[in-house]
Amino acid sequence: MEAIRFEKVCFSYQTGGAESTDGDIFSPDASFSLDGIDLSVEEGEFVAVLGHNGSGKSTLARLTNGLLTPTAGKITVMGLDAGEGKNLFEIRKQVGIVFQNPDNQTVASIVEDDIAFGPENVGVPREEIGKRIDFALGAVGMEVFRHSTTSRLSGGQKQRVAIAGVLALKPRVMILDESTAMLDPRGRKEVIEVVQKLNKEEKITVLLITHFPEEALLADRALVMHQGKIVMEGKPEEVLKREEELLKCSLTLPRPLKISRALRKGGLSVVDALNADALGEEIANALKNTPVTLPAIWEREEEISVAPLSGEIGRVECKNLSFTYNPSSPFATHALNGVDLEINAGEFFGIIGHTGSGKSTFV
Ligand SMILES: Nc1ncnc2c1ncn2[C@@H]1O[C@H](COP(=O)(O)OP(=O)(O)OP(=O)(O)O)[C@@H](O)[C@H]1O
Ligand SMILES: [Mg+2]
Repeated sequence: MEAIRFEKVCFSYQTGGAESTDGDIFSPDASFSLDGIDLSVEEGEFVAVLGHNGSGKSTLARLTNGLLTPTAGKITVMGLDAGEGKNLFEIRKQVGIVFQNPDNQTVASIVEDDIAFGPENVGVPREEIGKRIDFALGAVGMEVFRHSTTSRLSGGQKQRVAIAGVLALKPRVMILDESTAMLDPRGRKEVIEVVQKLNKEEKITVLLITHFPEEALLADRALVMHQGKIVMEGKPEEVLKREEELLKCSLTLPRPLKISRALRKGGLSVVDALNADALGEEIANALKNTPVTLPAIWEREEEISVAPLSGEIGRVECKNLSFTYNPSSPFATHALNGVDLEINAGEFFGIIGHTGSGKSTFV
């Protein structure tokens, strides 16, 4: 069965789709965010959607669950015509979207209530909701935050709760709209693994909108959007190798592939590798077969000169810096514990850390 079908779908925010009051859907100043999309996604398929900023990915997602109505064309979801108002409740039950920004989808002040909100709305029985909360929190590794206040979570933690909220709905179609962008690498890997598992084991159809090629490689099929059109389509490992076309869409090759091509240009006999492991193997084999002298990067004596630092303006120094949210309350969270740090004036300073490690608090 087809899970999603788009037939010549156009959408313009200027005309406001069905909410348009002027009725002139093809007014000359209507620029189309989606421009004649034909798309068919089979039930159980895992499709990655790539594309530059503003190419129409989120618009495609919103149309799929009836948040927007096409300006022209027809959308069918799980056999239901999305153009018919009476089908929208059922379609929204079947299609769960995790949006880009978790703040846009937090509805309750306590984590478990927030996750329960979706299932409650579609009439899932009470005892079943409890089980779904357990499952969803476990899936995103947020069990210990079950009774926490949503507004007191870090960005990445909020995003995990948002993903849990959709998992608890057990939709037939799951759309992740750059939902892992705020997560740290481990968090991203865990969430993607859950999605892959749901896709494989429960045959949930997945539309994964992403800027990470390594995530797109996990899909059955990849689509590339450009200026409201689908301009490339095929197996991700094929699509992600088409450098010229990707560049035209303001996208780039996956990094391991870029490196393998650069090495080949430099005379090392390696084939295109799409991930770090394959690239490592390629390089090791190539070096076994062809002894080469690699340029001694470490011998280059080009000193990168930095303007001498002077003065105290812009200098940051902290000694034993600690910070606790809601001290002397049951919600006390120690966000910073004795940070010693010096940042010199004019320095370009990077801070890394897992979700909830205190980066934003420090800033
Ligand atoms: N609420 C809105 N009102 C008016 N125009 C909008 C609105 N949302 C998006 N657009 C426009 O529609 C086009 C497609 O936007 P869309 O959000 O679908 O892109 P996207 O591919 O999801 O981009 P990104 O990678 O930045 O999330 C863009 O030109 C954008 O400016
Ligand atoms: Mg978007």
